[in-house]
Amino acid sequence: MTTDSPAAAPARFPTGFVWGAATAAYQIEGAADQDGRTPSIWDTFARRPGAVRNGDTGDIAADHYHRYRDDVALMSELGLRAYRFSLAWPRVQPGGRGPANEAGLDFYDRLVDELLAAGIDPVATLYHWDLPQELEDTGGWTDRDTAYRFAEYAHLAARRLGDRIPTWTTLNEPWCSAFLGYGNGVHAPGRTDHAAALTAHHHLLLAHGLGTAALRAELPDTAQVSLTLNLAAVRPLSTDPADLDAARRIDGLANRIFLDPVFRGSYPEDVLADTAHVTDWSFVRDGDLAEISRPIDSLGINYYTPTVVAAEEQPAADRSGSGGSGGDGGSGAVGTEPADAQRGDGHQGGSPWPADQGIRFLPAPGTRTAMGWPVDADGLYELLTRLRDDLPGVPLLVTENGAAYEDYTDPSGAVHDPERIDYLHTHLAAVHRAIADGAPVRGYFLWSLLDNYEWAYGYSKRFGIVHVDFASQRRTPKDSAHWYARVIRDGALPQ
Ligand code: FCB
Repeated sequence: MTTDSPAAAPARFPTGFVWGAATAAYQIEGAADQDGRTPSIWDTFARRPGAVRNGDTGDIAADHYHRYRDDVALMSELGLRAYRFSLAWPRVQPGGRGPANEAGLDFYDRLVDELLAAGIDPVATLYHWDLPQELEDTGGWTDRDTAYRFAEYAHLAARRLGDRIPTWTTLNEPWCSAFLGYGNGVHAPGRTDHAAALTAHHHLLLAHGLGTAALRAELPDTAQVSLTLNLAAVRPLSTDPADLDAARRIDGLANRIFLDPVFRGSYPEDVLADTAHVTDWSFVRDGDLAEISRPIDSLGINYYTPTVVAAEEQPAADRSGSGGSGGDGGSGAVGTEPADAQRGDGHQGGSPWPADQGIRFLPAPGTRTAMGWPVDADGLYELLTRLRDDLPGVPLLVTENGAAYEDYTDPSGAVHDPERIDYLHTHLAAVHRAIADGAPVRGYFLWSLLDNYEWAYGYSKRFGIVHVDFASQRRTPKDSAHWYARVIRDGALPQ
């Protein structure tokens, strides 16, 4: 029997469990116009007044493009077994069309060789949000052709690097690309049109399917192809039927709108009905769902905080029958101010969700990270065990999990981050508990290796276990890095 109680034996992870850390190209690479890279939608968006805190851009970021050797050496010191990074599409295929840019691919070639020499498995994501600007100029993800361009890019990347990268992910968090990028405009390209967001959603999934086929055509049979989703651990505030229905709707728009097409080859009927006033879904063509549901080898899950929803308060007279009975959601404990629409500063105001009328988003109780996101490791357990039940036989990877805190370097040069250690500890304990309860979780990639460009928050939020002084580019492993190194070494959580 496995248990996480402090008096018990240390929570030991299965042999072969993959211990990793994650980053993304635009957040760390810098070298934005070097060796033939062209602008992505994030280069453009970052320059839009008011879009990103401080007007920060990824022009230099953590300068990983030039410091990758030192960064791999750091990973090696920490004992990482795998490293999840993304390729910058506009580096590999400038402008998003035409031949590969060999100079851009050379960078990933060097990085991959460096990783392999250090005994670290490369895990490559093809798309972590940096669409070539030229493709946005012709419609971006609202244009069906972008999905075909993505497949072409997948061919180019896999043809050059496929002999040495064992695991590939098509997309990172298409929910964010579609709903934050085209829904409330908190992310690039900054469009605010819910019909466009649903169109983009479908074309992203089509890109995933076409990209999967492209990867399979280029890669050896042993290669693994995956998709990373930021699924939501959705909780209704109470058992009031109106709150339960709010949870059903958000579960539809956050989870089943991805899982059903990818694993079942259909869109959920209730989601189609809920969004019928936004779009008629005529962008879905015959054969698309067969393409989207091509088998994949694992599913990546990014998890940070749960999503608590409730129906909007009705005037007392309209809310008959809701008084008193049945509420179990800890309504006294859940915060009452709206949650920050999940991501971004929220200053653009609108909701990322199409068709969320009448739904309130509430923060879960408990402490919060520097993002204001409630710390709640049970949400991760809930998600992993739900996927165990809903997707039998699909191996799972936690491809991101971590927290931002207000870190600083003390006069001795150390960065003490006990809150991050606590966050990681409780979340890894939740992963351990899920595995013990039968969830097929094969690995964990901490977000993030380095402090980096946190999208609309610029450099104001630090998620790294390695501190980066952006003025000098000096790297300092935080206490959490030393803690994680020990966990990896022991294959177990400390007591
Ligand atoms: C995820 C993103 C990642 C990072 C973390 C904090 O949604 O995939 O790039 O921003 O959140």
